[in-house]
Amino acid sequence: MRVLITLPQALAERALIRLDKFDVVVVPPEPEDDARVLAALGNADGVLITPRTRVDRDFLSCAPKLRAVSTYSVGLDHIDLAAAEERGIAVAHTPTVLTDAVADLVLGLILMLARRLPESMRVGASSDWRNVPMGIDPRGKVLFIVGFGRIGQEVARRALAFKMKITWFDQRTPKTPVDVATRVLDLKKGLADADFVSVNLDLNPSTWHIIGRDALLCMKPSAYFINTSRGPVIDQIALTETLRDRRIAGAALDVLEQEPPTPDDPILELDNVILLPHIGTATAETRQAMLDCAIDSLIACLRDEPCLFLATPKH
Ligand code: DGY
Repeated sequence: MRVLITLPQALAERALIRLDKFDVVVVPPEPEDDARVLAALGNADGVLITPRTRVDRDFLSCAPKLRAVSTYSVGLDHIDLAAAEERGIAVAHTPTVLTDAVADLVLGLILMLARRLPESMRVGASSDWRNVPMGIDPRGKVLFIVGFGRIGQEVARRALAFKMKITWFDQRTPKTPVDVATRVLDLKKGLADADFVSVNLDLNPSTWHIIGRDALLCMKPSAYFINTSRGPVIDQIALTETLRDRRIAGAALDVLEQEPPTPDDPILELDNVILLPHIGTATAETRQAMLDCAIDSLIACLRDEPCLFLATPKH
């Protein structure tokens, strides 16, 4: 069976060892290789991809034999799930294995913002320690978690250890919500009462720009905003203006609407935002677990064996 891999070279080499029973073609996920990806799809039974490979109707129309798509991500916003399902193509992703890594990062960002670590590091690295930035305690502050799935709930568990008060919003009702957290049905009310907001949503048509200008303007001027999910769940132009005008105190963003940002993106000018290059899952252990999970799922789907992490039913 033929498998197409669009992982970066180092990951692809590790995947090749596990996929030695398959006929594997590797095409790196660079835009200039898009045509090579489409050409290689003609004979592919399965594909192993990252979010940089967009699986849309054009992609699928080049892949008449395709039976399985396995993505090295929990996010599925780069895949047209309805189109895959129409064709009976199984789609698998990597939930669960990355939950702790992303939740850990959120807590790190809450502490960085609360204790003003970026400014303090600048002072610490200078020879003038007279103006030490004054932080705030997380203890007793309201953390509003938007998106209360696996990651949101793990954020809540960690924040409770810091004695924060947890509120949450989700359009869906989670299966096992943390019972010491309070559900808020009105997104704007939750934002208005929060000292910290952590967005932990998946991106889909119902969450695109779910937090826009009106919602941001409900927040307290002292509040901090954290997004480690997907950039487009927030209207980034509105967020940039809200931060620039000091209508909120600051933000920490691991994701942007365009990644990486263009050099003229106004968000790069702000001094009250911490920007990270989408590192939510970037630990050695988590990335290895994601790779294993994505490969296991691909092999299971191609061999018609049970797969634990399907996003579409397998026909
Ligand atoms: C995920 O797994 O979706 C992470 O955001 C990495 O893309």
